[in-house]
Amino acid sequence: MKFPTEQLNKLRTPFYYYDEEVLQQTLATIQEEMANYPAYEVHYAVKANANDRILRRICQAGLGADCVSGGEVKAALKAGFPADKIVFAGVGKADWEIELGLENDIFCFNVESVPELEVINQLAEAKGKIARVAFRINPDVGAHTHVHITTGLAENKFGISMRDMEYVIRLAQNMQHVRFIGLHFHIGSQILEMDDFTALSLRINELQDRLEASGIMVDNINVGGGLGIDYQCPELHPVPDFKSYFQTYATHLRLRPGQKLHFELGRAVVGQCGALISRVLYVKQGTDKQFAIIDAGMTDLIRPALYQAHHAIRNLTSDEPAQTYDVVGPICESSDVFDKQIALPATHRGDLLALLSAGAYGEIMASRYNCRELPQAHFSSDQI
Ligand code: LLP
Repeated sequence: MKFPTEQLNKLRTPFYYYDEEVLQQTLATIQEEMANYPAYEVHYAVKANANDRILRRICQAGLGADCVSGGEVKAALKAGFPADKIVFAGVGKADWEIELGLENDIFCFNVESVPELEVINQLAEAKGKIARVAFRINPDVGAHTHVHITTGLAENKFGISMRDMEYVIRLAQNMQHVRFIGLHFHIGSQILEMDDFTALSLRINELQDRLEASGIMVDNINVGGGLGIDYQCPELHPVPDFKSYFQTYATHLRLRPGQKLHFELGRAVVGQCGALISRVLYVKQGTDKQFAIIDAGMTDLIRPALYQAHHAIRNLTSDEPAQTYDVVGPICESSDVFDKQIALPATHRGDLLALLSAGAYGEIMASRYNCRELPQAHFSSDQI
């Protein structure tokens, strides 16, 4: 990611800064890979970043959209995603959200429970429609990631258990206003070990064999998202390893003829193109450490406080010899800490810091706690 420091220095902080070249490179890499796999379709997980300009770029690159709320479905439609490329997931879809999906004829509802299936069938009947549904099956596959973002284990709230798979499919097949079109899975987020995706593929093979034996054909397999990014050295790896990721599925997942394989990637698409830019307010000497107190807080980027996530921090305006700092925000919470005991060039009031790899689950998770303003967004192609 490149930073036009002089221009950025004129802007009111904190704000998100997006390097459109990095986004473009990432999308181009996905498109190149897709050319090798005609049965694959990538949907962008809108939850990672729903900034309208970002959504439009992604839509122009030909990706579909994976939504988890009515608000996200609206944002995707507004940005131009065709309804037949929108999938809609979530354990708790409200009636109005289901109706919105039905009215727009979205491609598929990823259904997570029998009561939800029944409500979709009723609401579709009232509208004289047939809803396409896929069942989210909980594959009981662990992922090597943070406990808050693993979702595929037996005890998670997500999905339908493998044991009930045939039962729910038969149920759907006997309903008049839903059409069963596929299986959906998702094992977690920020996954860097390809073995985890191999384990999911093998589990899907098992389930498909089981279904085939009972005469059930599946048109679509959706493996969710989860491909991680390099938070440690983002400058070395601005574009995630999509090649190995798609290759892993190509090697291990046995697709049936005519079957489509869908992906729902969020973080890997937008994570590295965004940074949170913040100004140093004070450098405070503690008893045995020094704090760089910055004007961005956990309200702007909650990942460190919520998941103990690491975001590399760079001082854009100082190149003096390094010193050690705890970088903290202004919010009245002791978890409002971005990093501890890190080396930064000697840092002074007024310096600009960049918190890298903040394009995913950054801006979109911002809150107004402490009555703060939401952070603005600026783009590399803006005239600043
Ligand atoms: N599909 C489903 C069903 C999901 O639940 C998620 C993410 C995705 C796709 C996209 O996953 P990705 O490719 O971005 O890993 N706020 C957390 C991440 C929560 C992820 C929730 N589900 C964070 O900041 O790390």
